[in-house]
Amino acid sequence: MTKNLNDPQEPAVELAIPPAPVLTANEEKPVSAPSEALAAEGIPSRFCCFVTGTDTEIGKTLVSSAILHKLVEAGHRACGMKPIAAGAELRDGELHNEDADMLAGAGNVHLPQNITTPFMLREPCAPHIAASLEGVSIDPVPIIAAYAEILAASDAVVVEGVGGFRVPFSDTFDSADLAAQLNLPVILVVGMRLGCISHALLTVEAIVARGLVLAGWVANTADPDMRFFDENIEALEARIPAPLLGVVPRLEDPTAANAARFIDLAGLPGWPSTRAL
Ligand SMILES: Nc1ncnc2c1ncn2[C@@H]1O[C@H](COP(=O)(O)OP(=O)(O)OP(=O)(O)O)[C@@H](O)[C@H]1O
Ligand SMILES: [Mg+2]
Repeated sequence: MTKNLNDPQEPAVELAIPPAPVLTANEEKPVSAPSEALAAEGIPSRFCCFVTGTDTEIGKTLVSSAILHKLVEAGHRACGMKPIAAGAELRDGELHNEDADMLAGAGNVHLPQNITTPFMLREPCAPHIAASLEGVSIDPVPIIAAYAEILAASDAVVVEGVGGFRVPFSDTFDSADLAAQLNLPVILVVGMRLGCISHALLTVEAIVARGLVLAGWVANTADPDMRFFDENIEALEARIPAPLLGVVPRLEDPTAANAARFIDLAGLPGWPSTRAL
């Protein structure tokens, strides 16, 4: 059986994780996705994913929250994780970050903030800079340990990345490394605006190059006035070797529940409706 952090049988912290199967242009999903293998053996599987995006401020938190909302609606214990947050304010004696708060509001497993966001940095800037301002070194070990704790308390985990896929955290560790170390299927949020096709395809290349599964992608309307919107979606669909999971329009009220109406993850391995509960 494939070893994976998603596997409840595995030790809490397991760094030597073999790469996940890679999707090719002809496959909608991997043949031997770990969650499917577990389900086939009668062991409850989980839905866990890493949400990345074509850029910063393009809807990763909105889509991550929408996924959490759907998991909670399906009766699951779902927890969001924002391992590294740059931009936090002190309120009631605790540092708060908008993304972390929104994910916490959408999920239904409430863990201490130092678990769901092991690196809560104050300065709203590139994380490696925010960390150096605080004399902090962003290291994968506390993140992986925290992720294991979340897994122990939840049926489903949605991990939101930071900015785009290659945001550096230190000289030797970046967002892509984090996704690879957690060995999670990736959901790519494409911020629909001029230039997004190249950003999306470069991101897909980087995901595939790390041997990660690209589970699917979501088109989120970053620019409500984008011209040739449908043609851009078509161009992306023709080139991204994973299913389009939804097109989120510009919402008047961008809540998790409102965005969730436009996303369908039912076909994904490990998604609650695809297995016996
Ligand atoms: N479809 C949408 N309709 C309306 N507002 C949206 C939509 N998508 C995103 N927004 C708004 O745009 C802003 C950025 O979205 P979001 O925080 O989800 O981006 P992000 O990719 O997570 O950013 P970051 O890189 O900072 O984590 C938020 O204020 C959000 O409410
Ligand atoms: Mg965000």
